[in-house]
Amino acid sequence: MTDKILESFNGTRIAGSIAAEALDKVAEIIKPGITTAEIDKLCYEFINDSGAYSAPLFYRGFPKSCCTSANHIVCHGIPKNKVLKDGDIINVDVTAVKDGWHGDTSRMFCVGDVSVKAKKLVKTTYESMMKGIETLKDGCFVGDIGFAIQKHVEKNGFSVVRDFCGHGLGKKFHQAPNILHFGESKTGEKLSVGMLFTIEPMINEGQYNTKVLNDGWTAVTKDKTLSAQFEHTVGITDKGYEIFTLSKKGLDLPVY
Ligand code: MF3
Ligand code: CO
Ligand code: CO
Repeated sequence: MTDKILESFNGTRIAGSIAAEALDKVAEIIKPGITTAEIDKLCYEFINDSGAYSAPLFYRGFPKSCCTSANHIVCHGIPKNKVLKDGDIINVDVTAVKDGWHGDTSRMFCVGDVSVKAKKLVKTTYESMMKGIETLKDGCFVGDIGFAIQKHVEKNGFSVVRDFCGHGLGKKFHQAPNILHFGESKTGEKLSVGMLFTIEPMINEGQYNTKVLNDGWTAVTKDKTLSAQFEHTVGITDKGYEIFTLSKKGLDLPVY
């Protein structure tokens, strides 16, 4: 690992831990009756109080500090005065920028008691992200990640969204390479030591097709079935990989 790589890893480690801690705070307050605007306020304040800022705010005109995507929303849901109710599942996606480095992470939260089907979707989505991460090593291919994710998801009867992907990041929020969450082993770009990117599979209960609402952001499932997503920021090391956005409280996956 060169000095330049070590510097980028150190920066991403700090940004990633702030982003992860923001989601730990969300875990403490999320319950039936809370609004997505209140979740956004918490993320905005926690990230600012940590000496960082939220990358989504005003990014390409996005109006809020995080994305809140409930039930059939696939991604990029805009926080508003929508009240969460018992049985909802919701993804909260935060990105902290510290000293120019980006830490991007999202988790699902279960609001009150959720259905068996929803729990299975959330669990399968988390497992698929981790299976994608476990393929990482110097010289692996983008297709190895997508293959591992797709295999696990389809085995469980769900589908992998095609319209959105993971991405390289660093001093920029989104950059090459695109990390597809479906595909074939040993295909696509080769990944090497020092590369920083996200793995963030969006998994649907029904078909994988999505559409974007008139607000220009909110992506939903076309068939209106549930969708789930988890995201970690990762880097390739000489030993394998590092995950920069782990919860220090062990709250990466909601407990039921
Ligand atoms: N955090 C999202 C991602 O994982 C991007 C959100 S862009 C925004 O890449 F503008 F919607 F915030
Ligand atoms: Co991302
Ligand atoms: Co994100």
